[in-house]
Amino acid sequence: MRTVTLIKGDGIGPEISDSVVKIIEASGLKIDWDIQTAGADVAISEGTPLPQRVFESVKRNKVALKAPVTTPIAKGFRSVNVQLRKELDLYANIRPCKNIPGIETCFNNVDLVVVRENTEDLYAGIERMIDSDTAESIKLITRKASEKICKFAFDYAVENGRCEVCAVTKANIMKMSDGLFLESYRSVAENYPQISKREILVDNLCMQLVQNPSKFDVLVLPNLYGDIVSDLTAGLIGGLGVAQGANIGENYAVFEPVHGSALDLKGLNKANPTALLLSAVEMLKYIGENSYADKIKHALFKTFSQSIKTVDLGGSATTTEFTEKVIDNL
Ligand code: NAI
Repeated sequence: MRTVTLIKGDGIGPEISDSVVKIIEASGLKIDWDIQTAGADVAISEGTPLPQRVFESVKRNKVALKAPVTTPIAKGFRSVNVQLRKELDLYANIRPCKNIPGIETCFNNVDLVVVRENTEDLYAGIERMIDSDTAESIKLITRKASEKICKFAFDYAVENGRCEVCAVTKANIMKMSDGLFLESYRSVAENYPQISKREILVDNLCMQLVQNPSKFDVLVLPNLYGDIVSDLTAGLIGGLGVAQGANIGENYAVFEPVHGSALDLKGLNKANPTALLLSAVEMLKYIGENSYADKIKHALFKTFSQSIKTVDLGGSATTTEFTEKVIDNL
């Protein structure tokens, strides 16, 4: 039986984790979940929100499914997510965004993939107070990490039958940092004559995405733009409740939804487990369980086609009811 680390997170994390574990179990696939806690409660009980045992578990099992973890805003401990991605060198954050049958949105032709650099940029956390009224954050971009993520994006395009990789920057203003990212993109792109190239400024991209998202295929972005743009693209297909993601490195992979811990829904039995479930489907494919992945995805889409939806999608199903319907449809 395959062992997979499960980080249940906090906020809605435990509720959607339980839903996904139940659905996978009902599909007939046996997974040995190595359950690891992390986040604010752990910070109180163990003195750190991300104890060494969590890293050790992912290193042992190589693969993890992770629900969201709250990060204190403008104070407190450093993001568990950022630490995990950095320490395990999960350098590529892949966030596919494709219309889901049965979920009506403004567009019916969205099929793009956000490939976000996951280890540096303003997320490197290099910041300080220069004096009590002046703060400074450093935007760190290296050629090594930029080339690595651009190569990942082009390889992804080749392996997944994609036609174009578009580099997204603000290199007109940040001529050195985003300029270096763009230069890296251009040098990597030369090795992929079969893939179309495009360069776009991030503000223009946002405008074009909300007007005509079908114009885009694979997007490769530095960390911060990737984070923001992938919430925007989530909105194109029904919102954060359905937006899946994966953090991939050379040795480890952590699958997690785009969304956060949605504290406004905590304990209300209203959270949509779809984003975590679709992330789990990709995790199952990653460990070679393709038939179970397909079975679960089919049951999920069938549930939507029966107009059974959680509140975020305009429906009335609770997390529990939605989970039971997906299980019925397996
Ligand atoms: P959020 O993604 O948690 O929520 C934004 C909005 O989307 C809320 O209205 C929420 O109710 C809704 N939403 C999100 N997921 C949903 C789901 N599965 N079903 C139904 N509705 C859903 O973003 P927010 O509020 O900005 O962040 C909350 C906390 O989560 C913060 O501490 C933030 O740092 C953390 N966070 C963690 C992430 C992770 O663990 N990977 C990613 C993003 C944020």
